[in-house]
Amino acid sequence: MNRILVTGGAGFIGSAFVRYQLAQYPDVHIVTMDKLTYAGNLDNLREADPARHTFVKGDIADAAAVAGAMSGCDAVVNFAAETHVDRSILGASEFLRTNVDGVYNIVEAAKKQGLERVLLVSTDEVYGSIDVGSFKESDPITPRNPYSAAKAGGELLGRSYHTTFGVPVIITRGSNTYGPYQYPEKVLPLFVTNAIDQEPLPLYRGGEHNVRDWLYVDDHCSGIDVALRNGVPGEIYNVAGGNERENIQLTRRILELTGRDESLIKLVADRPGHDRRYSIDPAKLKALGWEPQMPWDEGIAQTVRWYQQNEWWWRKIKSGEFKEYYLRQYGQR
Ligand code: NAD
Ligand code: TYD
Repeated sequence: MNRILVTGGAGFIGSAFVRYQLAQYPDVHIVTMDKLTYAGNLDNLREADPARHTFVKGDIADAAAVAGAMSGCDAVVNFAAETHVDRSILGASEFLRTNVDGVYNIVEAAKKQGLERVLLVSTDEVYGSIDVGSFKESDPITPRNPYSAAKAGGELLGRSYHTTFGVPVIITRGSNTYGPYQYPEKVLPLFVTNAIDQEPLPLYRGGEHNVRDWLYVDDHCSGIDVALRNGVPGEIYNVAGGNERENIQLTRRILELTGRDESLIKLVADRPGHDRRYSIDPAKLKALGWEPQMPWDEGIAQTVRWYQQNEWWWRKIKSGEFKEYYLRQYGQR
């Protein structure tokens, strides 16, 4: 695997994966294809060595663009997606276009070009909520919001291309990911950057005790890499951090680390259809040799420090399109 197409590589996890591949594999060349939506950002790729990295601006919903970027590649890893649940509640059409039609173009081009591996990055959210225990890959999927339903649609299509045409599709389902360069609409960077600015933290009322399992971004990338290189085509692999926290615990930790007090917490109207708890069992991926490396206490402290030290990165984001979204999302709450 010498030339890998990374779609959505200018986003949060995709850009970390590009850095990870370039650092781990001296012979690999990465082609990043990204539409540069509101969430895509070339600043995220500033550390990628241009001698081993090519950037192509393009939309995965454009079949010809996908086929062109894939030409000459051995493998594709798809991160490109509309990714924010709250935005999918405000309007889902872009979610279907990218997360379903876009994935169709990727598997179709991979079929025609005979790629060695097609890795579709998916999410634990496709399983839906679970009160007790953890989902395994063999459990049925019951996505409950437009984002996760669209991700499930893309996954199912990908799997059908393996069954029907023998396209070597592998799927990973990751848990909530955190780290540097995460667009500040997601709860962790939103709360950290709001806390730095002494702005309210909009915690969903009724969702204070909802649970997410936090996975450090580099551990997510190494999990995807292990599945890509050692995984079996047609199989699905859960990637989980093993750090389950209630939202209120996460919020308090962020306040402690930023030196702010609880008066900043503002309970706002809950998310419709808010999934109570996500939990997945990563034993199948661990059997391939994967182990997450980042302890929670260190990961959260390092991540908060990164946002404190990299205001240049998030201040320009929060002053652009973000402001309009923030008002639309939280103005009525
Ligand atoms: P992100 O929103 O930060 O980045 C998404 C990237 O995809 C952006 O660079 C954007 O410009 C690009 N993109 C969007 N539509 C596109 C299109 N039509 N064509 C080409 N590029 C397009 O997302 P992220 O958090 O990095 O998530 C990456 C992947 O990981 C997604 O598939 C997501 O479903 C999955 N995932 C995310 C998490 C998480 O906690 N963030 C957890 C599990 C799985
Ligand atoms: P989010 O980061 O949107 O990830 P996901 O919904 O994909 O898990 O949200 C994580 C948790 O934080 C979720 O339970 C919803 C909650 N949340 C808030 O309480 N307030 C917010 O402003 C946001 C964005 C999320």
